[in-house]
Amino acid sequence: MRNRVLWIGLSLVLLLGVVTAVVVPRYLAGCRPVPGAATFTGTSSDPAGADGIGDVNFPRSGNGGYDVTGYDIQFRYESAPDLLHGQTTITARATEDLSEFKLDLRLPADAVAVDDRPAAIHQGSGKLQVTPAVAVRAGAPMTVRVNYAGVPSALPSRHCGASPWLRTADGGLAVGEPDIASWWYPCNDHPLDKVTFTITAVVPADLQVISNGALLGGPEPAGPGWQRWRWAHSEPMAPYLAFVAIGHYDIVRRDTAFGPYLAAYDRRLPPPVAAAARASVEQTPQIIEFLSGIFGPYPFHQLGGVVPDTPTLSASLENQTRPLYASEQFTSGERVTSVVHELAHQWFGDSVSVSHWSDIWLNEGFATYAQWLYNEHTGGYSAQQSATRSYARHTDDDEFWKIPPGNPGADQMFKPAVYDRGAMALHALRVAIGDKDFFTALRTWTTQRRGGNGSVADFLALIHRVSGKNVDNLAQTWLYSPTRPPSPPA
Ligand code: ARG
Ligand code: ZN
Repeated sequence: MRNRVLWIGLSLVLLLGVVTAVVVPRYLAGCRPVPGAATFTGTSSDPAGADGIGDVNFPRSGNGGYDVTGYDIQFRYESAPDLLHGQTTITARATEDLSEFKLDLRLPADAVAVDDRPAAIHQGSGKLQVTPAVAVRAGAPMTVRVNYAGVPSALPSRHCGASPWLRTADGGLAVGEPDIASWWYPCNDHPLDKVTFTITAVVPADLQVISNGALLGGPEPAGPGWQRWRWAHSEPMAPYLAFVAIGHYDIVRRDTAFGPYLAAYDRRLPPPVAAAARASVEQTPQIIEFLSGIFGPYPFHQLGGVVPDTPTLSASLENQTRPLYASEQFTSGERVTSVVHELAHQWFGDSVSVSHWSDIWLNEGFATYAQWLYNEHTGGYSAQQSATRSYARHTDDDEFWKIPPGNPGADQMFKPAVYDRGAMALHALRVAIGDKDFFTALRTWTTQRRGGNGSVADFLALIHRVSGKNVDNLAQTWLYSPTRPPSPPA
């Protein structure tokens, strides 16, 4: 009887929870067409400029018909209403005759010009459809200027949940994977289309703006009460890795052997968290030195990090040149392995990006393995011990083993299996082909594909080429089967 009452009570609480979690945000976020934007109609008669670049997990990400050659993102941001006014110029080359094409953009666009001529637009479902006044011929360059404005935090996630754009107490944060780019700038939102960026933000003069690459000059006056921050990143970068953090930051700068170092710490961080964050992130140059001994030369010309005060953000992210570290990581002290993880992504994920999102093992499995190597280097468990322990921690019936890290699926990209079983898989490959060939393969990968992309199949083919060993069975066991391998990698 008691139990039944408990059950009914529990069910009610659960039901209420589900209703609140699912229905309320859906209602609030309003998964409605963007205000002020016409609904995208599409034209099935025109095959050019496809909606989607061809990603199996994310069929609507990115677009067909053109290749971006550069982004010049410019915006003004007011944090109190969370209002972003943007003017982004995209240079691109048409890869087919284009009477129309699409960009990924969720903020409402009010004007678009292609080669300085006003273009017609339709917008909705995350896409901005552009019809230039004059069709663009295959192979021709084009310059697309988009004016847009809106409240990025009000734009729902892909699943009608909360926006990936975060508001902080005094600013905003554009950080996310795989979703964030189209919440603040128009783009071809897929890692296959990597280019260089300039990012210019005008904000109230008391705020700082942190982004990727080099800070050009210092903040410049931009009218009474406003300042302009100009950032430039000169290496190819996937759209999701472009970021801005706007708020009150203490900025630390110094020169290092790998280029200028710039880290930024939110002034609102509680002092012990700020101290732990600094003690960890300030080790970036030494960690890059360690990793470059294994993976090859550091692929970029700047380094650093940013730690915003975001108590509800649990995941860090490997923003190119300047990872974001979730402050939550430092609430119980230093966490150097988190820095190792995000810095390993500079090679695996950033410099060499996934070809498709199903290749996410190449990012997370490798960054986790880098943590194991670092632990061994600093006198902790050996990589072999980490692999054995991780295998033992997950028993036969653990759901963990149901997710194949070699192709986890859109909703499971960041499950522990992709990280930990992914690192076990890498260790299994290492044991199978021997250290010499294994580390040669890693360096060959980062060298030959620097600034580009690669797939899991490409990586396995490289392992085969370097070692002469067929690793198909091993890959099947560790990357693709939804069951626990019979024994730990050894
Ligand atoms: N790549 C990030 C990392 O370094 C993980 C991002 C997690 N994203 C998410 N939507 N859960 O681990
Ligand atoms: Zn990661």
